[in-house]
Amino acid sequence: MAETLTTPRGMNDLLPPDSAKWQHLEGACRELFARFGYGEIRPPVVEHTELFARGVGDGTDIVEKEMYTFRDRGDRSLSLRPELTAGCARAYIEHSIAQKEPVTRWWYVGQAFRYERMQTGRYRQFWQIGCEALGVAEPTVDAEQIAMLVALFARVGVAPVEVLINNVGWGDDRVAYRAALVAYFEPHKAALCGDCQRRLVVNPLRILDCKVEKDKQLAADAPIVLDHLGAGARAHLDGLRATLDAMAVPYRVDPRLVRGLDYYTGTVFEIVTTASHLGTQGTICGGGRYDGLIEGLGGPKTPAMGFAFGVERAILCMPDPVEKFVAPVGLYIATIGAAARQRATALAHGLRLAGVTVEVEHREVGMKAQFRRADKLGARLSLALGDAELASGQANLKDMVARAESPVALADLTAAVLARLA
Ligand code: HAM
Repeated sequence: MAETLTTPRGMNDLLPPDSAKWQHLEGACRELFARFGYGEIRPPVVEHTELFARGVGDGTDIVEKEMYTFRDRGDRSLSLRPELTAGCARAYIEHSIAQKEPVTRWWYVGQAFRYERMQTGRYRQFWQIGCEALGVAEPTVDAEQIAMLVALFARVGVAPVEVLINNVGWGDDRVAYRAALVAYFEPHKAALCGDCQRRLVVNPLRILDCKVEKDKQLAADAPIVLDHLGAGARAHLDGLRATLDAMAVPYRVDPRLVRGLDYYTGTVFEIVTTASHLGTQGTICGGGRYDGLIEGLGGPKTPAMGFAFGVERAILCMPDPVEKFVAPVGLYIATIGAAARQRATALAHGLRLAGVTVEVEHREVGMKAQFRRADKLGARLSLALGDAELASGQANLKDMVARAESPVALADLTAAVLARLA
């Protein structure tokens, strides 16, 4: 017997009815993000490997260890995107967007791929929904995005969550902080893992998000970036805080918050769940400023702020049962015989075009089984069609909730059903 094929490890099928919950979340994003001026972008799933090496950073775990990289038939190195911000930045430059509009707001939903060790909430193919606002340097836009996310999660029932913010500085602040980190870690160099010994030379900030337990303990007492911020970064953080306060958005400044991607400058934030079921994967959403990315990739100097949240993780924090998100069946039509099935199919078509969800029994099965199915589908109304109903042009429309039935003329069925469902 042939071996049964399965999905690659860490990659999941999404099936109905679970997909209904995803659609609800995506729909809420689509509607809310539009109100904030975000238009949808759909960049390709595959990009040149160099984009991620230069954008996300070739010293990051994501690029160094987790990327799906391959050579195409033309011997070009391509990678499945591990995130979507770099692709957005590439598109912004490629399509000369800066010359067309001063402020650009994009949102996206799509798969990302990282070769990670699997756990609940951590997969190798996962979905991200994110926003990128390009062209604005002011901290009010940082606050606007965070407030939008808090409103989104409240609206769809992602709970409980906490907002953590920090500022990781840029330019001179970063130089000073880097020196402080090197001074702190240098005496402990021998105790660091091999990767971190290398990071100490190349990019010491990366030691702070090392996952090795011993390194984590050392990092816990490392100098914090907030102590090395200049006046500009401090003012930006104050501006962000004041705006969040004005909108009554609760947050906590976490001076140890750093992010695993190299492009961040200044503001960084995460939204974490305080529910225990996600374990160490409690970060639902992450983002921040990347004021140097566009220029670093060869585009014009462009300040930018964005975020992405993991859709699987958000869904794990939506406790409402999936049934709540599935469109209910308005009418179930049970049938006996070929002629009844044809008439039922035509009647159902008219009702569906009028906006009703209708299920027709196309199979030759007994009445009892048909009504069991109507119950299981949670149909609000049902109707049985056989030779007698076709001959009289009348059938009994049954209210499955009230368990009451009344005769209707088949010719008036659409109006009768719409009236009952109203
Ligand atoms: P990130 O923190 O790497 O940031 O990912 C954002 C979110 O994606 C995480 O908070 C998490 O919910 C989800 N996520 C990441 N890895 C996995 C995984 N293996 N399995 C399931 N979910 C995962 C970014 O990707 C940035 N591009 C965010 C951003 C946009 N910054 C500025 N603009």
